[in-house]
Amino acid sequence: MLPTNRSRPQPRPGRSWSFSEMDFSDPKRKPRYLSKILMVALLTAMCVVMLTQPPCHRRSPSVFSIHEPGVTHVLVTGGAGYIGSHAALRLLKDSFRVTIVDNLSRGNIGAIKVLQSLFPEPGRLQFIYADLGDPKAVNRIFAENAFDAVMHFAAVAYVGESTLEPLRYYHNITGNTLVVLEAMAAHSVKTLIYSSTCATYGEPEKMPITEETPQFPINPYGKAKKMAEDIILDFSKSKKSDMAVMILRYFNVIGSDPKGRLGEAPRPELREHGRISGACFDAALGVIPGLKVKGTDYETADGTCIRDYIDVTDLVDAHVKALNKAERGKVGIYNVGTGKGRSVKEFVEACKKATGVDIKVDYYPRRPGDYAEVYSDPARINRELNWTAQHTDLQESLRVAWTWQKKHNSGYGPPQAMIL
Ligand SMILES: NC(=O)c1ccc[n+]([C@@H]2O[C@H](COP(=O)([O-])OP(=O)(O)OC[C@H]3O[C@@H](n4cnc5c(N)ncnc54)[C@H](O)[C@@H]3O)[C@@H](O)[C@H]2O)c1
Ligand SMILES: *[C@@H]1O[C@H](CO)[C@@H](O)[C@H](O)[C@H]1NC(C)=O
Ligand SMILES: *[C@@H]1O[C@H](CO)[C@@H](O)[C@H](O)[C@H]1NC(C)=O
Ligand SMILES: *[C@@H]1O[C@H](CO)[C@@H](O)[C@H](O)[C@H]1NC(C)=O
Repeated sequence: MLPTNRSRPQPRPGRSWSFSEMDFSDPKRKPRYLSKILMVALLTAMCVVMLTQPPCHRRSPSVFSIHEPGVTHVLVTGGAGYIGSHAALRLLKDSFRVTIVDNLSRGNIGAIKVLQSLFPEPGRLQFIYADLGDPKAVNRIFAENAFDAVMHFAAVAYVGESTLEPLRYYHNITGNTLVVLEAMAAHSVKTLIYSSTCATYGEPEKMPITEETPQFPINPYGKAKKMAEDIILDFSKSKKSDMAVMILRYFNVIGSDPKGRLGEAPRPELREHGRISGACFDAALGVIPGLKVKGTDYETADGTCIRDYIDVTDLVDAHVKALNKAERGKVGIYNVGTGKGRSVKEFVEACKKATGVDIKVDYYPRRPGDYAEVYSDPARINRELNWTAQHTDLQESLRVAWTWQKKHNSGYGPPQAMIL
């Protein structure tokens, strides 16, 4: 339903976000001539008149507030985060207009700065610092901007943390998705691409996981995402909504921009809940002494857990394909994985080769709540969106990510280490 986004970007003069938009003149300057006094009086009067409408210092409407034929404007929530920043980069490269909303609770302003330096032209990229848990702020953002579609990435996303702080998860996943959906409904934004997860399936009996596999999530993270999916699906079924919805259930995301512009940089305090790739890189960097592999007695070929690792470049490609195929009144639900499971041992070997570091590995008993084997059946997304994973060489994905990690060993780091 979005057939017109292929045209070139059309930069127009207008307001794009900057951190220092303060350009009031000093009202206390002494007028030397009567004419100047009159002028000031006149301007003040005009200002008062305008104050009855929007405030008098308000600028002319920004390009972001206008639906422009041939330009698809996408709101990317969580665009300062790992996947959202990669998605924004791809959208910008494909000539979409992008607004990122993020409150930087977990993302990085450094990622935003990289994107801004790559796409500085007016009307391409706008960053709005806001909290999606604040319905008034979200409503204002939708009122002031003309979005054609929303990619909703913003969330908290650590299974372990979700069992320790379930309310944080229901609040920031389920609650915030409701806020976004209400704003979309109120402002007639009709296309939603939603970031869901294989954690909504829980521990299925049969592998691989298809989209028909029953969803019985076993942790608050998976449950919060499942609830958000249900809210979206119920709303999309209601006659009035006429929404185009694409729900993408990602498997384990790895890798980073092949050109080394963006990477994955979670907050240091999240390390303990972290994902396996982050732990491997931390071990290779010497930030942690080694890797702890939990569980070697699973019923798998080498006894360690099996997961389906999807490269972030392929993942964002799936988002763009989903956006281009989204149709009013229809819902698409897709697994996004390679279809091939890899064991933790395989992963660790690939990581050792990719980093060139002989990472120390210690084996521990199973971690409660981990399931032996999870991998996707991506047949539906292959068939319906003509999407297949291209970056399926684990070692190569990890090598690309490692290249970024090595150069950014404190993430996007202190401002002086950044490109701008
Ligand atoms: N990384 C994975 O392996 C994986 C797997 C499956 C699904 N997902 C989903 O993908 C999405 C993105 O994950 P990620 O790995 O990029 O996470 P991330 O933590 O790197 O990014 C999330 C971003 O959302 C922002 N955010 C969170 N709460 C917010 C709020 N209330 N208001 C504004 N901004 C807020 C954070 O600041 C951060 O920039 C999430 O929805 C996650 O559940 C990720
Ligand atoms: C981000 O949003 C959360 C609510 O989801 C809020 O509690 C937190 O204080 C915000 N963080 C910042 C830095 O604004
Ligand atoms: C999430 O929600 C909780 C409330 O349960 C809040 O305290 C927290 O700051 C929120 N934001 C994040 C990013 O966790
Ligand atoms: C599917 O994708 C392939 C490779 O990306 C492309 O060559 C082919 O033309 C596409 N097929 C359709 C029907 O769009």
